[in-house]
Parts: sequence; C-alpha cells; structure tokens
Amino acid sequence: MTPGNASRYGDTYARWKADPQAFWREASRAIDWIKAPDAVFDPGAGPYGRWFPDATCNTCWNAVDRHVATRGAQPALIYDSPVTGDKRTLTFAELKGEVETLAAVLQELGVVKGDRVIVYMPMIPEAVLAMLACARIGAIHSVVFGGFAAKELATRIDDAAPKLILTASCGIEPNRIVTYKPLLDEAISLSAAPPQSVLLLQRKQAQATMVEGRDHDWATRVADAKAAGRAAPCVEVAATDPLYVLYTSGTTGKPKGVVRDNGGHMVALAWSMGNLYGARPGEVFWAASDVGWVVGHSYIVYAPLLVGCATVVYEGKPVGTPDPGAFWRVISEHGVSILFTAPTAFRAIKKEDPKAEHLKRYDLSRFRALFLAGERADPDTVQWAEDILGTPVIDHWWQTETGWAIVGNPLGLGALPVKHGSPTVPMPGYDVQIVDEGGKPVGPNTMGSIVIKLPLPPGALPTLWHADDRFRESYLAAYPGYYTTSDAGFVDEDGYLFIMGRTDDIINVAGHRLSTGGMEEVLSSHPDVAECAVIGIKDSLKGEQPCGFVVLKSGVNRSPLEIEKEIVQLVRDKIGPVAAFKIAITVNRLPKTRSGKILRGTMKKIADGDSWSMPATIDDPAVLDEIAEALHQKGV
Ligand code: COA
Ligand code: AMP
Repeated sequence: MTPGNASRYGDTYARWKADPQAFWREASRAIDWIKAPDAVFDPGAGPYGRWFPDATCNTCWNAVDRHVATRGAQPALIYDSPVTGDKRTLTFAELKGEVETLAAVLQELGVVKGDRVIVYMPMIPEAVLAMLACARIGAIHSVVFGGFAAKELATRIDDAAPKLILTASCGIEPNRIVTYKPLLDEAISLSAAPPQSVLLLQRKQAQATMVEGRDHDWATRVADAKAAGRAAPCVEVAATDPLYVLYTSGTTGKPKGVVRDNGGHMVALAWSMGNLYGARPGEVFWAASDVGWVVGHSYIVYAPLLVGCATVVYEGKPVGTPDPGAFWRVISEHGVSILFTAPTAFRAIKKEDPKAEHLKRYDLSRFRALFLAGERADPDTVQWAEDILGTPVIDHWWQTETGWAIVGNPLGLGALPVKHGSPTVPMPGYDVQIVDEGGKPVGPNTMGSIVIKLPLPPGALPTLWHADDRFRESYLAAYPGYYTTSDAGFVDEDGYLFIMGRTDDIINVAGHRLSTGGMEEVLSSHPDVAECAVIGIKDSLKGEQPCGFVVLKSGVNRSPLEIEKEIVQLVRDKIGPVAAFKIAITVNRLPKTRSGKILRGTMKKIADGDSWSMPATIDDPAVLDEIAEALHQKGV
C-alpha cells in the first residue's frame, strides 16, 4: 500500500513537522483575534508550554457574531427532537440575539469573567446557548452529562465551585422523563461549594420546584432582558484563559477536570473542520452525541459554528425514536453533509435493521461522509456502514484530553486508503510513538504504550483544573518528554496506527468513558461487601459493559441475589444510569497473585471467551475455575 499519492496529507504533516510554529501561525489566520498572536508558543509556561501566549480573543465572537454580516440568515443551529416532536432552527443572526440576551442575564446574576458556571442540561438549544453565553462573557462553563447521578454532579460542583448552575426541569429518555431538578437539588445539598444561583428552564414535560432566593426562572429572566433591550457584548479574554472545564473519568472515583483554552482550541478546531472532516462553510454538520461529552463540546457546539456550518442538536437516539431510520430522516430532512457519531450507534441500527430497509425511505444525496470515534470501530460495523451508505466511513481516535483527533483519515486533504481496524495516521500537531515499558520506541507491528511527544498541539489540554501536579503525574511522569495516552497499540509498516485498548481501568460503554475503579469504590461501600473487582467485558451493542464480582463479608447470610440487586441499584444511584452497570456476581474469592494483586486481566479474558494462560504468579489456580463457573451460571 502506498498511502498518500493523491492526498495532501504527507506534505501537510511534513510541513508541520518541519516548523510547527509556522504551521500553527498560518492556521491561526482562520480566527478573528482581538490582539493577534506575536508569539505562537511559550515553552516555559504551564506544565509543558502554552499556545498563543500573548493573543486575546473571544470564542463566542468567532462562533457567532462574525458570521452575522456574511451569513446572518443562514441556519446556525437546527434542533430536532423526536422525543418531544419539537423542531426549531436558529439563524446566525437569531443565535447572536439569543446568546447576547442570555449572557446579559448571566451578568445580572453576578457572573463575571473567570467565574465557573455549571450546565446540567439535556440536548436542547438552550444548552448550546448557555455554553456560548459563558464564552461570550469570559465565564468558564462546565457541562455535566445528564446521565450522571447527584453524587457525581456534587463532586464536579465541589471541584469547579461554580457561581451559577444552569439547568432544565427534565431530560427525556425514550423510556422515561428524567427529572433533573431533584438530582441537582440533592447534588447542591451534598456539595461543599454550593452556587449562589440556579437558572432553571421549565420544560412542559415536567415542572420543577424552585428554591426561593436561589432559583430563577429562565424564561422570565430572558423575556425581561429582551424587553429591556439588554445584550452583553463579547468580553476580551487571553487566548490562554480557560473556555471550559470538562470532567472525565480518571482512574479513581475523582474525575479529572480537563481544561480547554480559548485561542488554541479555536485554531485547532477550525483547522480540523476543513482538513480532517472536509466540511465547507454553509454545510450542515451533525455530531450525534451529547453536549455533556467532549464530542459535543468540540463538534456539536464550537467547531461547526467557528467555520460557519450549521450544527444539529438532536434529542433522540439512533433507534427507538421512533425507529432505526431516525438518523436517515435527520440527514435527509436537514441536508446533513457530515455525520459524526460513535460506532455503538451504528451497531444499534444494524441490529434492528440489518438490511437498512429504513434507509430506502430517505434522500441522502447531500450526505458525504460518516466519522466514527469514542471507542474502537470494529471492522464489521465499518464495513456495514460503507456498504449501506456508499460514502467514506472514517474512524478517528482521540480523547477528552486532546479535544480533537490525534489520529484520523483527513478527508479534506484527500483521504488515504482505509484499513479496517485502524483510525489511519497522526494529524499535524501529534508526533505519535509506540514505546515499551522502559520508554524505548518499538518497531512496526509491535505492541506498546501510545505516547505523544510534547508539546501537545493547540486545542489539547494545557493542564487539569487547579491541579497541575495531578496533570504531571497522570500524563507526563511515566515517559519524560511525552504525554501518555493510556491507550496501547501499534503502528504498521505503512504508518497506520491500531488502537488495542486502554492500559488503565477506563472502559468504554456505548462510547461513554467510565472508570471501573470508580465503580469498585461504590461496590466496596455496600455494607455486606468484603472485596470486589469490576471489569469491562465484551458487549455486542455497547462495545463493553461493566461486570462486578463481589466477595461478601464473613457472617453475611442474606441472599446473594438480593445483595447483587442492591449493588446494581447502588451504582445507578451513586454514578448514574450511564454506567450501565447491570451484572453483579457473588463469588467466594477473587483470583489473586501471591502478592495479593487481583488478576482482572485474566478474569476479563475468561469472561470474553478469549484464550488465556495461567499467570505464573497466581496464588490458587482453582479460583479461576470458580470465576468461569460463576460467569457461566449468570449466563455471561
Ligand atoms: N440523561 C439521563 N439518562 C441518560 C442520558 C441522559 N442524557 N443518556 C443516557 N441515559 C440513560 C439511559 O436512559 C439508560 O438508562 P436505562 O438503564 O434506564 O435504560 C442508561 O443511561 C444507559 O444509556 P446508554 O448507554 O446510552 O444506553 P441505551 O440503551 O439508552 O442506548 C445506544 C444505547 C447505543 C442507542 C446509545 O448509547 C446511543 O445512542 N449511543 C450513541 C453514541 C453516543 O452518544 N456516544 C457518546 C460519545 S460520542
Ligand atoms: P473519551 O475521553 O471519552 O473520548 O475516551 C477516550 C478513549 O476512548 C480513548 O483513550 C480510547 O481508549 C477510546 N477511543 C476513542 N476513539 C477511539 C477509536 N477511534 N478507536 C479506538 N478507541 C477509541
């Protein structure tokens, strides 16, 4: 295979490698700066350096205001909600009007530059308005996914110490209404850093109770601000100021606050829209994700708007709302050119409509490409999507930390030949290497840890919120001079990267990133549990699902089934339904090494039906038979 003959990728990557600063200076011209950057990179600032250290800007201006003159009447935000039947389109001019009013309301509630604002909302336009309104006034938003429980929300409130929380009365799942307000009230009561105010959007599906003196009604405040003609202008911020903090699972129950800056973030996202996704201004770009995840931040909200695309805010699922043709309907109805989602969504559609009968009902003539990320794109699913769509299907690999693709197939530069199972090649900005345990680079086709040579490019996290040391320890300490991705894999002889899985306890359930360590903390808190282990096991729909093993304290003589049910409920209550923790298995003991380390890797292989060998250090080999039998009994 000779990748790149017809693609500008090779030249582009080489140009970046030869002079990264010149490359990013050129890319920075896509942005309207208030003070344009003189310096591109300061290696002395922050844990590994900072991009555009002397520039100033406003992200909301770039995403919204600057388009009003040239494309004011063009759709900017298309809301489509099969779960409520609502649809609404905002043009760039209308979007500006809504955002500047909401930003004025935030200011009235005392929010100023640098304050944190938590957004705990479903997939409705107001969630996007909230993020942009924060960006407009230099406040730092922190969006918390609606599928998290009160305790998880409380942990994030404690860390971010927000002045204000924006929320809605409910989210709508196909099988139930999720009332957010009681969860928020509970989280605030658990929190050591409660906000001064809450701005609550009452949805017609559920009316929430207001707390006197603290809670304000969204609709009333916005209507009053509009009537009074109040509108907040864009506030000048340093390119290095935080735009947002997004919490993601770490290896303990305490999530990591990934910081995103303003300047580098805009430069990287704008570059990616044209060169990686091949999106053109005026097109409709749809990331079928949630604003609570990084994909939502980057590719529902900021990137499409930065380059003048319309973005789709979809409150629904790939299946069941109402059928597996839902994605095709949205694509055809709104003229979507590019769809970005997680492979699990396509597995769900394939499972319900293997012959893609529903596709025949819709006109997808404007559709050009499907991008997949968030978890491994299994070759069967990629092949199926290619067959039914007849367009490029592009796997790309990245993380909450990086904010945009580390490795992908750059459609905008001319796609390289696809190898199923590989997200293709590193994007400019990323010098990706595979190293062994001692940090030595390994040759082609040899598995190792995937690391990125510092500095990380614009758009990637400069640090963790108020936790430079944790940042260094988590990402920089293992291999000096490199960022550790915590993914393992190899590069083949053509330079294609293959991701084989995480090296830590993070698992990916339906594209959602979860910590098994965090789940173990919850299991251990059950009064009858002596010890436990949670592993991610293969799941044909969600990629992985968590499976917990518990050893009961001696003397506990309650029904194990009852305790297992309580444990499942406990994870739902403490972490949230998104953990999808459904399998708890009681065992007499856990397999361990002679030094007492639980053999989670071997347990996973047994559960997945993969071949495995007896670990040389195992204390008692018979325990593994017991585990296999317990899994068998549970039908796993
Ligand atoms: N608020 C409250 N609860 C939520 C929620 C939200 N925003 N999102 C999900 N949940 C709940 C679900 O209702 C479900 O609850 P249940 O146990 O009562 O059924 C639970 O969290 C697990 O959700 P999920 O993992 O999404 O599973 P699902 O069975 O509801 O749907 C898919 C499966 C594949 C259809 C779904 O995961 C999907 O659409 N994935 C698309 C990819 C995606 O969004 N990836 C994100 C990163 S790109
Ligand atoms: P998140 O931070 O939620 O985006 O999760 C990041 C993790 O998801 C990565 O470290 C990978 O383990 C996994 N991941 C994301 N995209 C891919 C991909 N295209 N292929 C394989 N794994 C992926």
